[in-house]
Amino acid sequence: MAITTCVFDAYGTLFDVTAAAREAAAEGGYPALADKWQAVAAHWRQKQLGYSWLRAITGAHTDFWNVTQDSLDWALEAEGLGGDAALRQRLLDLYWELSAFPEVPAMLGALKAAGLQTAILSNGSPEMLEGAVASAGIGDVLDDVLSVESVGIFKPDARVYDLVGQRFGCARDEVLFVSSNGWDAAAAAGYGFATAWVNRGGDPVDRLPWTPDRILTDLSSIPDIAQI
Ligand code: LAC
Repeated sequence: MAITTCVFDAYGTLFDVTAAAREAAAEGGYPALADKWQAVAAHWRQKQLGYSWLRAITGAHTDFWNVTQDSLDWALEAEGLGGDAALRQRLLDLYWELSAFPEVPAMLGALKAAGLQTAILSNGSPEMLEGAVASAGIGDVLDDVLSVESVGIFKPDARVYDLVGQRFGCARDEVLFVSSNGWDAAAAAGYGFATAWVNRGGDPVDRLPWTPDRILTDLSSIPDIAQI
């Protein structure tokens, strides 16, 4: 069936989650971060996702901002930076206004110009997503921003993917779901969406029961794929 609706994961897909640690290191005010920002960013992301899955399977939901702070605290302590309250606050402030990847505004604009519906579907809390969308200046090329907070469980629970059909009234196979998280793209493929995994880092395919339909290196070809 033809694609009518393009739905994007937020963190790592539209917004560069490594930008907060990279930018804080570049500011020069946190010398201890200079040779550790990549490790902090990697630990932060890995724990953030791990905590989201653990909270989902144990029924211990809290919002993604709490998970983001918990995972940052683990990452800073792991890298010997646990006592630096100013650094912690700076990283959290920067996370609120992450950069979008450079191709994002034109890509979303092309989808809207082609008459497609566009949305974010993210673990992020509504407030976090509002901050990121505003700082990236992409609010006018998104029809909606859907947060897991309306169902109170994180991806890849199917109730999260259900939010798309509930909002747009479309069939699963009319949706192109795009994520930089291999597990998210795989689970969405299992759910019945058409899927694209944006694999900027050349990671191996996740060994799960489902595989994404396409593997891309960035988002620039999404308008063409959506209109095939
Ligand atoms: C999100 C995380 C999984 O935005 O990247 O949902």
